[in-house]
Parts: sequence; structure tokens; C-alpha cells
Amino acid sequence: MAKKHDRGRAGRNRTLVVTKEEQIRLSGKLMRITSDQKPGRFDIIDKTILGDLFSIIDCIPDEMADLIVIDPPYNLTKDYNGLRFKSLGNAEYLEYLRSWFPKVVAKLKVCGSLYICGDWRCTAALQQVMEENLTVLNRITWQREKGRGALSNWKNGMEDIWFGVKNQKSYYFDVNAVKMKRKVLAPYRENGSPKDWEETDSGNFRLTFPSNFWDDITVPYWSMPENTDHPTQKPEKLIARLILASCPPNGLVFDPFLGSGTTSVVAKKLGRRFCGIEMNEEYAIWAEKRLEKAEADRSIQGFADGVFWERNSLSFQKKSEKQKQ
Ligand SMILES: C[S@@+](CC[C@H](N)C(=O)[O-])C[C@H]1O[C@@H](n2cnc3c(N)ncnc32)[C@H](O)[C@@H]1O
Repeated sequence: MAKKHDRGRAGRNRTLVVTKEEQIRLSGKLMRITSDQKPGRFDIIDKTILGDLFSIIDCIPDEMADLIVIDPPYNLTKDYNGLRFKSLGNAEYLEYLRSWFPKVVAKLKVCGSLYICGDWRCTAALQQVMEENLTVLNRITWQREKGRGALSNWKNGMEDIWFGVKNQKSYYFDVNAVKMKRKVLAPYRENGSPKDWEETDSGNFRLTFPSNFWDDITVPYWSMPENTDHPTQKPEKLIARLILASCPPNGLVFDPFLGSGTTSVVAKKLGRRFCGIEMNEEYAIWAEKRLEKAEADRSIQGFADGVFWERNSLSFQKKSEKQKQ
């Protein structure tokens, strides 16, 4: 299970490593279901299900999830550990989405919310299936910073996250749980006192509600404890914002393309229940290992003291933590 790059990893590289022994033990924790089985809601809670979404989605109980987070294969040629997703024409990609998306939406409670991620190339198809199945409330743009350079095109530095609900008159949204702590650049005072900002020894800060443009979240990289070798791993901070805003405490979060387990891990760290499906056993095992690690360490990089901090603000966070002690 140790990957070829493990041997050459430098000391500060914190990328997840799973030993052969752990692989066997963690594989035993994965849930496997056959297409003729119908597990109940309580059977699938806090489980990583190893299997192909297409063969098992009908076995999953309907209307079980408060929140669904979907990070599907984008319309790009990509190798998921031997499973090759081949870039399709736009119409074919839309048909691919239509073949599973309504079935996944059926797993959402009537007052539930759903987010689906994609890049500029597949976003039109995502909008289409969202509008066919849900009420679309927003499109978040995540400025992801890291992207592959291009000589004859603009480097891709953003992703979309579509947000939809089943019932726009009744859905959970806790904006106070996702406040952002931003450094104040022009500290305005009224009668000598800070106006809407706070003066501290570690700097001047303002608490704000997030907009639909997110520029404070980096992709996981090798020095971060959450990092794995998954080729398209989402940052815990990003998923934390979705879960805190759109899933009540103890509610159930479902991720049908779990990958390295980010959604389940963050749900666990934030006191929510979870269920995820992943067809690649190595990824599913990484998810289980991360879930075990979350028992001892619930921290989420970039989210501390109940607020989201800006990029590169670890030193301010530490200072603020020290001041409280
Ligand atoms: C974009 S990645 C998700 C990454 C994940 N958000 C994370 O943070 O690690 C999509 C995942 O879906 C899995 N996948 C693709 N087709 C699948 C299918 N039919 N059933 C289950 N999993 C599938 C791939 O193996 C891949 O790990």
C-alpha cells in the first residue's frame, strides 16, 4: 500500500501513508453491498461503502441525507488509480450525469441541500442537471490558486460549486456558522472606536459573512496533515464551509464519489453523521485511515475558534490562541 513516492518523502512531507497491515485491517471496515441488498438508514450511517455507484445507488435508502456533496469525475481524461475517466463530448457528459444524478437526489431529504463541484468545462452540464432536478440557489466560485500552467490558454485557477435545494421555502442554512475572519486593511473609526472590526495584539480583524466567491482556500499540499495521494482531493476547509452552512449538527452528509474521504472526515470532525461511496479500494482505505485519525485530531486547517481564517494566517491564529491562554 505504501506508494512509490513514500520512500523518497522528505521529513516535513505529511502525506498519508498506509502500511500493508493497516490496509488489511482497514479493508475489513469497508461496507460492501450487493445489488439485491437493501440496508436500512442505520446500517449505512458512518460507513464507507466500497462499490460502483451505478450498481448500488438503488440499494441506498431514499430521503436519508440532510446534505449531499458531489465531487464527480470532471469531464477530463483522468486516471483514478487505474480507473480511467475519459473526456466526453458535452452532450455525452450531460447524459453521463443524467444517468445517476436523479438517483442521488432521491437520497436527499425534502428539506435537504446539495452541492456539486466542477470546472469551467463541465459547469454548463452541471447547471443543466441541477435545474432539471432541484431549485438552484447559487453558484460558488472557488479560486483554487494552484493550477497547471498553459502556454496557449489561460491557466485554470477556479472551480464552480453549484448549490441547490429540494424546497426553497424550507431548507437549513446557518450563515453564522461560516463567518470569516479577515484582516482589516483600512481600519475605520467612529468616535475613536473601531467600526465593525476588532483591535487585537495580533492585528485588526473583521468578522464577515462569506460571499459566493471563495479566495481563502488552497488545495491540499504535501506539508498539510490532510494530504493524500488522491489526484483530485478537496480541501477540508472547503467542505467544512458547506457542512457547517447546510447540515444541522448530527445530520447526515452523503457523498456518492467519496475519493479519499474528505466529506466523511470533515463531517465527523464537525459532529455530523456521514456515508460515502467509492469504487476504488485504495482510496476507500485512505478514507478509513483518515476517519481513524479524526478521532484523535478534529482540527481543520483554516477553521479555528469557530471562524474561517484567510490564507496564510496560521501565525495570526497561533498568536490569537496564545493570547487566550
Ligand atoms: C473527483 S474524485 C472525488 C475526490 C474527493 N472529493 C476527495 O476529496 O478525495 C471522484 C472519485 O469518484 C470515484 N468514482 C468514479 N466513478 C465512480 C463510480 N461509478 N462509483 C463510485 N466511485 C466512483 C473515483 O474513484 C474518484 O475517487
